[in-house]
Amino acid sequence: MPDIAEIDKRYVWHPFTQMRDWVRGDAIVIESGHGVMLRDTEGREYLDGVSSLWCNVHGHRRREIDQAIIDQLGRIAHSTLLGLASAPSALLAERLVRLAPRGLTRVFYSDSGATAVEVALKMAFQYWRQRRRGPRPGKTRFVALRHSYHGDTLGAVGVGGIELFHHLFQPLLFDAHFIPSPGERPARGVTREQHLGRCLEELEKLLRSRGGEVAALIVEPLVQGAAGMLVSPPGALSALRRLCDRYQVLLIADEVAVGFGRTGRMFACEHEDVTPDLLCLGKGLSGGYLPLAATLATDRVYEAFLGEYGEFRTFFHGHTFTGNALACAAALASLDVFEEDRVLEKLRDRIEQMHHQLRTRFAPLPHVGETRQCGFMAGIELVQKREPWTDYPLEKQMGYRVCREARRHGILIRPLGNVIVILPPLCISEEDMDRLLEGIFQSVRTVTHGSQTEQRKGRRKGKREPS
Ligand SMILES: Cc1ncc(COP(=O)(O)O)c(C=O)c1O
Repeated sequence: MPDIAEIDKRYVWHPFTQMRDWVRGDAIVIESGHGVMLRDTEGREYLDGVSSLWCNVHGHRRREIDQAIIDQLGRIAHSTLLGLASAPSALLAERLVRLAPRGLTRVFYSDSGATAVEVALKMAFQYWRQRRRGPRPGKTRFVALRHSYHGDTLGAVGVGGIELFHHLFQPLLFDAHFIPSPGERPARGVTREQHLGRCLEELEKLLRSRGGEVAALIVEPLVQGAAGMLVSPPGALSALRRLCDRYQVLLIADEVAVGFGRTGRMFACEHEDVTPDLLCLGKGLSGGYLPLAATLATDRVYEAFLGEYGEFRTFFHGHTFTGNALACAAALASLDVFEEDRVLEKLRDRIEQMHHQLRTRFAPLPHVGETRQCGFMAGIELVQKREPWTDYPLEKQMGYRVCREARRHGILIRPLGNVIVILPPLCISEEDMDRLLEGIFQSVRTVTHGSQTEQRKGRRKGKREPS
């Protein structure tokens, strides 16, 4: 057996990874998976606590999805959607339109969350240039929320609001407007409701003065995942929808992370009965099996692109693997499992189990600043001190250290800075969920207690130094 870790370190450049640390570290090489478990080449088993980067839904090697892919392989793996149709992509589009918020009627496929967002941005831009009821070519700009994350291609980065990831690329980006996010921690003495009011006021002020230049507002409905699971208060999404309507701005809902059951409903927009003009889907769309994404549009948007060929209203955009047959077959099977296993119904107990433990066990820990949860996605924010709120410096890598410690408990999780993310596959059992939470609890305690001791030692050392 070749030494895969060695080969990896020699040749692979990993995403979001300081490669100098990576090549010095001990790489886990995943060989197989089953249900919520991953197994490495050493035969060790780990619970997949972040659903293989938030995408796995029904567990690994789910029989029905495996079989659907095998059956599709017996026919064809891939043929293009440029000039041709295929059964899996057509049937999946029909199914998605039936499931999605009412009014979204057309499905444009791509292959990652970022590309679904690029498609939505370009569609919104082009829509205003050529809509039938009076084109508005001046509507070229986008509004996004602070702390937002929509993927890593340049258009998506252009509407991204995470300093650490996005700032460097500023000179390459188009100029978006950013407004405060309803999910961010309000300033001291400001309630969440007051903060929401201020966010809406700020958006309204912007749209009143500059709405004529704005093509669309893009949001992650309910939860800003990559920002550290920032949960917006109820009513935020529907209020944003109303403002978009009032000022004739399209609403793009990026449900790449929150779609497919994560918030307890199939789509997050359902919680507030909102239909966006464009809806971005990815990650869990194929059950987390294969790269597949989709951008859904309303008739109103779609019809602006219709005309004689020579009018050049066509949406000139596509990817080689758009509507890949294997991925669409996996997605259809995943949607079947949702129905047959009554996944969302059963999930309620797991959501409650998570909620109970976050509240009663994690929240009281001295170095937990806040626990946040929406449906089946949660974040635990570690802080040096809660009162007054004092962040751990990022260089201390507290989140990363907790995740490293969790490995010793047979758990694989990945942090977002100082936030520990808990996002297991929706199919996790009560016992596995207990095991996951217990392992994370112990890891948080060990690492933060260790850091307290370090701090104390540091203080003592600091005192001695001057003498
Ligand atoms: C809300 C949101 N949009 C877009 C993306 C990008 O998806 P992908 O990594 O598949 O390009 C992500 C990824 O985490 C996401 O959370």
